[in-house]
Amino acid sequence: MANVIIVGAQWGDEGKGKVVDIYTEYAQEVVRFQGGNNAGHTLVVGDEKTVLHLIPSGILHEGKRCIIGNGVVLDPKVFLEEIDGLKKKGYLKDDSQLMVDGAVNLIMPYHKMIDVAREQKSGAKKIGTTGRGIGPTYEDKVGRRGIRFADLLKPETFKRKLHEVLPEKNFFLEQFLGEKPCSEEAIVEEYLGYAERLRCYLGRASTTLDKAIKAGHNVLFEGAQGSLLDIDHGTYPYVTSSSTIAAGACTGAGLGPHLIDEVIGISKAYVTRVGEGPFPTELNDEMGETLRAAGNEFGATTGRPRRTGWLDIVALREAVRTNGLTGIALTKMDVLNDLETVKVCTAYRYGEQLLEEFPQDYDVLKDCTPVYEEIPGWLTDISTLSSYEELPVQVIDYVEKIEAWTGCPVVMVSVGPRRNETLMRSNPFTKKS
Ligand code: IMP
Repeated sequence: MANVIIVGAQWGDEGKGKVVDIYTEYAQEVVRFQGGNNAGHTLVVGDEKTVLHLIPSGILHEGKRCIIGNGVVLDPKVFLEEIDGLKKKGYLKDDSQLMVDGAVNLIMPYHKMIDVAREQKSGAKKIGTTGRGIGPTYEDKVGRRGIRFADLLKPETFKRKLHEVLPEKNFFLEQFLGEKPCSEEAIVEEYLGYAERLRCYLGRASTTLDKAIKAGHNVLFEGAQGSLLDIDHGTYPYVTSSSTIAAGACTGAGLGPHLIDEVIGISKAYVTRVGEGPFPTELNDEMGETLRAAGNEFGATTGRPRRTGWLDIVALREAVRTNGLTGIALTKMDVLNDLETVKVCTAYRYGEQLLEEFPQDYDVLKDCTPVYEEIPGWLTDISTLSSYEELPVQVIDYVEKIEAWTGCPVVMVSVGPRRNETLMRSNPFTKKS
């Protein structure tokens, strides 16, 4: 039995969807524990592409239980649209395959309006959010004003809570943001209209997982976004509003840390970021364009072009430490196929200082410049290879250097978007019994 957490080791979009999809084969339960529909996991099964924003990608596997843990924020409209899309493609034949914890906080229309209007008002100081209402929903959760999934299924409770919270929201929307107020009646009508379809998904992550683990099941925890977007440990304030690091899986699903066996961090062979915020290895030149085009680096959620840069070992070491990574899955290695040389940042220069640790202080980080090591490229199409041993020696050297620099083993190398374009070196689910 093994319980494994998968997290993004960079600023999100590392290719977690595909890795989770592969590991799902070995798990009986797949759990989302934080974030909301700001995430976008692209999966390619055969020739069919599916993009999921909220529902764990394990849903593409029949018989796997997918759980949306209490740490998630959920937009019921988007959730139902995703369910409809999956059913249309022949997935989710059995509704008991999907469960939502009653304590999940709901994304309300005013959260989305506040998110978008606040960003507009912030001008150059904006965060570059996805505009899905994520931050304002978490603010209300922590401020103890949130409306939860279970509330939606009790019409009187839902109406009472909305009635209590809406005057404050409308005051803020109208008086501070200059927006139109939300209509209480319209929200009641819309949200209670979703309730009956949602009822069958209500459950409790903590007790369900406790029973599953006691029965000997393997559980896969599917992180969204990335470690450097963590509310505490990321590049604050340019972060998302949830705990994206591995510890978030325990609070976001209601389990103790001793139940976790392995933590796998997903890292691209280079780096991307969407939204604003410091990015020391960013390439604002032709090479940046080359990476964007070769890696098709456009957001799965918002379609925004992603910022691109060389692999940053200083940042990756931060992810190894804050998550307690036991393995790294290296994705999109094939994107570097045509490059004569590949650069890797191994330290930062800050004034006269050489920094090997990721600075916590934004004012320091924004002025850091990368110190690069240049390694030879492989100039070979590696996407057709079927085992790690077949990789060109330059790729193996690159992987071994990453292991030495981070002190963490690389357990998987992904060489293309399809399931079979994956070279597994060790499997976190079969390491322990
Ligand atoms: P929010 O999560 O919409 O509040 O956005 C906060 C920051 O996190 C912005 O820079 C977003 O671009 C970034 N972000 C949120 N979700 C993702 C994701 O799934 N991938 C990459 N970046 C994300």
